[in-house]
Amino acid sequence: MSEHVPSEQLSVEHLLGIKELSADDIELIFRTADGFKEVLNRPIKKVPSLRDITIANLFFESSTRTRVSFELAEKRLSADVVNFSSSGSSVSKGETLVDTVNNILAMKVDMVVMRHPDPGAGVFLSRHVDARIVNAGDGTHEHPTQALLDAYSIREKLGRVKGVKVLIVGDILHSRVALSNIFCLQKLGAEVMLCGPRTLMPRYINTLGVRVEPDLDKALKWCDVANMLRIQLERQGGDGVANFPSLREYAMRYGLDLERYRRLGKEIVIMHPGPINRGVEVTSEVADHANSIILDQVENGVAIRMAVLYLLAARIPRTGV
Ligand code: CP
Repeated sequence: MSEHVPSEQLSVEHLLGIKELSADDIELIFRTADGFKEVLNRPIKKVPSLRDITIANLFFESSTRTRVSFELAEKRLSADVVNFSSSGSSVSKGETLVDTVNNILAMKVDMVVMRHPDPGAGVFLSRHVDARIVNAGDGTHEHPTQALLDAYSIREKLGRVKGVKVLIVGDILHSRVALSNIFCLQKLGAEVMLCGPRTLMPRYINTLGVRVEPDLDKALKWCDVANMLRIQLERQGGDGVANFPSLREYAMRYGLDLERYRRLGKEIVIMHPGPINRGVEVTSEVADHANSIILDQVENGVAIRMAVLYLLAARIPRTGV
């Protein structure tokens, strides 16, 4: 089992979404990530915490940041890692999700990190297989580790999350990042405002307890932090931009360029979950601006994922040696 057992535990056995976490769970993940961040700045960036744990990374949808970040987190914790992607696998021969995962688990896997295009895929899996499940993004539903690393990065930059005014801009309708961020920020006491085309706002928006401001300049004036979401071209349907007239018009109304930023007359923190469509959600000058924490988000992702895996591994039932 783990070399180091945490003194405190999460209230959940799987990380399926932020909705199921308490504020105490999130604070515990942050405190644990603080320790791992210190490890990641050492010359030897590795600890033996998950030395006899095996983790399968199952990616049924494309990913760069999340996939590399989880694999690095697992290796920094000394876990054994197996990677699976649906392309080139027996999924293309008609094998079901449960059969695929049970076959992998038969090889004695303890934890599964899964990205899947279907909302609820992680919940489904947690009910049918005997392993800890970490949701690495399920369709348009949740992306919990992204929200955790986003809130952690705000805490690092501003020293707190409580009371911070966070604006989330863009494709809210298709965004698992938006939903997880809303839940996470609200649990930590931040104020949340959304801005974007009406056609990219979900119908249930009024149930989320957030403000909605259609005018980006007014919304930017209000906020301390602007999280500029990626336009999910692959989920728009039709010609790819069916929910707004053109990418050019989107960029004019909802994109952040240097001129718009300077017009604000105040400093705000700029975030983006990646991958960036440069020139659409933000221009290169804004993405690379001194107040952009986009690469800090990526860096913090490793420490956050180490914390999540470490805390969930402590919840794996153990038989005596
Ligand atoms: N932010 C994020 O989930 O990026 P990837 O799709 O590259 O993993």
